[in-house]
Amino acid sequence: MPTLMSSNGRKRNGGDFNALDFFSGCGLVTEALKPWFTTLWANDICPKKCAVYVANFGGDHLVQGSITKVDGSEIPSADLAWASFPCQDLSLAGNMDGLSNGSRSALYWEWVRILEEMNERRRPPVLCAENVVGFLVADEGKQFRSAYLALRKLGYLAGALVIDAIHFLPQSRPRSFLVAVKEGTPFERETLTAQEPHPLYHGKAVLTAWKTADDPEWLWWILPQPPRRNLQSGLRPIIITLRDKVEGTTLLAENAGVRDRVEVYAAETFISTNVNELAKFEGARLKTTTRDLVKRYNEIITNVENDPSLKIEER
Ligand SMILES: C[S@@+](CC[C@H](N)C(=O)[O-])C[C@H]1O[C@@H](n2cnc3c(N)ncnc32)[C@H](O)[C@@H]1O
Repeated sequence: MPTLMSSNGRKRNGGDFNALDFFSGCGLVTEALKPWFTTLWANDICPKKCAVYVANFGGDHLVQGSITKVDGSEIPSADLAWASFPCQDLSLAGNMDGLSNGSRSALYWEWVRILEEMNERRRPPVLCAENVVGFLVADEGKQFRSAYLALRKLGYLAGALVIDAIHFLPQSRPRSFLVAVKEGTPFERETLTAQEPHPLYHGKAVLTAWKTADDPEWLWWILPQPPRRNLQSGLRPIIITLRDKVEGTTLLAENAGVRDRVEVYAAETFISTNVNELAKFEGARLKTTTRDLVKRYNEIITNVENDPSLKIEER
């Protein structure tokens, strides 16, 4: 992990940082941050999810209830405020009401209100809002633009990236992240950002968001190169299944109903992000097929993105 620095510029070791986990649910963010961050405060409205959270992390720092009742002045100061806010109004599986009309994704603005209420000095140096990719593209990026500008207004530099779980697991699950750092906070720009879009993290959806944000200060956040996958062993059965899908893909995409398209989407995301390794593994024949497939994949995604009645992802 690249070196993080505290807001006073001193380097700190993993585990030394503190986080606020908004929309904490069962605690997956708290769990993922554990090697580097201690969660000082968490909040969720769902009693069942809170019970799971308490069973795993204790309840002393968890506030069960609606974020609408949280007062920013009561929250401890921390290095990071994370918000995995509800996705239903931004997901193609939902009604696409977005951040302005939706009763759930619009809770993003409660998070912003709380950040406003924490005064400038106590506001965390780093923010992250995570959601489905619809966050970036809903309403042709206009919803994202207002979310982005709200953080800029609070004195943060920001940018978005998409990370797909498929780089780490045999499952495609792209998620968008709006990451912001308070102006003046020292951070390793050369390790954590790129000069220009990186194909792995800044695909079409991020480019839509960037164009709509229209801000020269935009940050192209990047991650270290994902680990190389060992296709010869654990993933072999999946590759074989996918090879079958490759052969039927065009047909499927043309004739499929919603469920099939979801499968096509997952298969093709996997294939298109692993073109070189797959070609090595399967030989030249697949290499040609894969190239065609990637082209077809891009066409399908464009169609799916333009068709709100199709389900791509649910959570
Ligand atoms: C996308 S999920 C986050 C999942 C979480 N990261 C986890 O590990 O389970 C969004 C969460 O927002 C919570 N939520 C919905 N409305 C809320 C509200 N008014 N106040 C606080 N939390 C709310 C839901 O209960 C859900 O757990």
